[in-house]
Amino acid sequence: AEIVVVRDQDAAGELAARSILDLIAAKPDAVLGLATGSTPLAVYRALERGIRERGVDVSHVRGYALDEYVGLPAGHPESYRAVITREVVEPLGLTPSLIHVPNGSLDGIEHAGADYEKAIAESGGVDVQLLGIGTDGHIGFNEPGSSFASVTRVKTLTEQTRKDNARFFASEDDVPMHCITQGLSTILRARHLMLLAFGEGKAEALAGAVEGPVSASNPGSAIQLHPHVTVLVDEAAASRLK
Ligand code: F6R
Repeated sequence: AEIVVVRDQDAAGELAARSILDLIAAKPDAVLGLATGSTPLAVYRALERGIRERGVDVSHVRGYALDEYVGLPAGHPESYRAVITREVVEPLGLTPSLIHVPNGSLDGIEHAGADYEKAIAESGGVDVQLLGIGTDGHIGFNEPGSSFASVTRVKTLTEQTRKDNARFFASEDDVPMHCITQGLSTILRARHLMLLAFGEGKAEALAGAVEGPVSASNPGSAIQLHPHVTVLVDEAAASRLK
């Protein structure tokens, strides 16, 4: 992987956005792999500025989110569908019908994973996949133990992840137990992976992903199997790298 240590989240956001805007200039219907959570927000804000300043036409850009909670009521503000709409589609001016999020409603959940895989494949595949990393080492919501051959499917969130994400809900009990997430093999099929991590809390997981043994107990380490990975980190998140 190419490891780039940056001053802060804004600097990472600028670098990531520049690379994504160059991609869109070359391929106006580029397929973006979208992440949620706090980590990619600086990228989305930098994209918003860049699109405005450079006058980029993003109306043909396509997108696939990594994951979604299972069983939240439709329209729940913390559903990843709602978050992607609020943080990405609306501010960037993307075309809503071209931006996809796995379907986490209980109705039809048994075929939602296969449907999503088919949609990604039919799009021609993700050009650049944004990734954050969980403190337990997950990418997407592929928690420790996830197979490297996994595809989009329902998973149970770890207690650590539910604690980490409680900040978005009224209490930890309100964080859903389950999610639907792209698998590690789905993620590895993207043509370029861009992993971002900020803060001391991510240092151990980041070191495990970049330098640790390639192991299912450490899902982020799957990135070591990919030929084109860019890691954008601040000094705190890079602090455990050798
Ligand atoms: C989000 C996702 C997760 C997050 C990870 C880090 O779509 O798939 O892997 O990237 O949980 O979350 P934050 O960025 O909130 O620290």
